[in-house]
Amino acid sequence: MPASTIPGYRYGDRALPPASIDEAAFRDLCAACLLADDDLAALREAAPIIEPQVEEILDTWYGFVGSHPFLLAAFSTPEGPSQRYLAAVRARFGQWIRDTLRGEFDAAWLAYQREIGRRHADGKNATDGVEGAPPVVPFRYVAALIVPITVTMRPFLAKGARDAEHLERMHQAWFKAVVCSVALWAEAYTREGWW
Ligand code: HEM
Repeated sequence: MPASTIPGYRYGDRALPPASIDEAAFRDLCAACLLADDDLAALREAAPIIEPQVEEILDTWYGFVGSHPFLLAAFSTPEGPSQRYLAAVRARFGQWIRDTLRGEFDAAWLAYQREIGRRHADGKNATDGVEGAPPVVPFRYVAALIVPITVTMRPFLAKGARDAEHLERMHQAWFKAVVCSVALWAEAYTREGWW
C-alpha cells in the first residue's frame, strides 16, 4: 500500500505539532545511542533486503503479540481482540519499518515520532476510532519489546547480508534506531520536565 493511502499515517503531515526536541538535543540522544552516520548508511543498505520481507516480519511480530495475552490486551475490547484495530495498526507498522530503514531522521521524522509516542499513550485508540480498548500501552512493555523487535530482525537481515560483518553492522544499526525511537516515544509517558 503506498504510504499516502495508509489510514491514519501522518509522517510528513505539516499539520502535526513539531517535535519538542531540538537538533542539538537530538544529536546528543543519537550520541547516547551510539547512532552515527555509518549506522544510517547501514539502515539504508538493509532497506532493500527487508522490503520484500515486511509482511513476514509483521507476521512474526504479530505472532509474538498474539501469543502473549498481556500484549494482545492493548488491541482488545470487552468483545475480544479487535481484528480491525490490529489490521489498521499493522499497515502503519509496516510503513514504520520502511521509514526507519530510510535513515532520514529529520524534523518531519522527529515530529512523527512524537505522534507515535502519543498514540501509545494519551492518544491511543483515537486514530482508528477504537472504543473499549485500554487507554494506554504500558510503557514497561514498550521498552521490553525492543528486545524481540531487535532479535527477530536478525534472520531477515541475514538473508541479504554479504557476510557476517555486514549482518552485524545492519543489525546493530537497527537496534540503535529502535532504541532511539523508543527514547523519543518516552516523552509521552514522562512527567513535564523529566524527559
Ligand atoms: C519497541 C516497541 C514497539 C514498537 C517499535 C512499536 C511500534 C508501533 C508502531 C510503528 C505503531 C504505529 C504507529 C502509527 O500510528 O503510525 C504502533 C502502534 C501501536 N502499538 Fe506499538 N510498538 C511497540 C511497543 C508496543 C507494545 C509493547 C504494545 C502492546 C501490545 C504496542 C501496542 C500498540 C498499539 C495498541 C498501537 C496502536 C495505537 C493507536 O491506537 O494508535 N506497541 N506501535
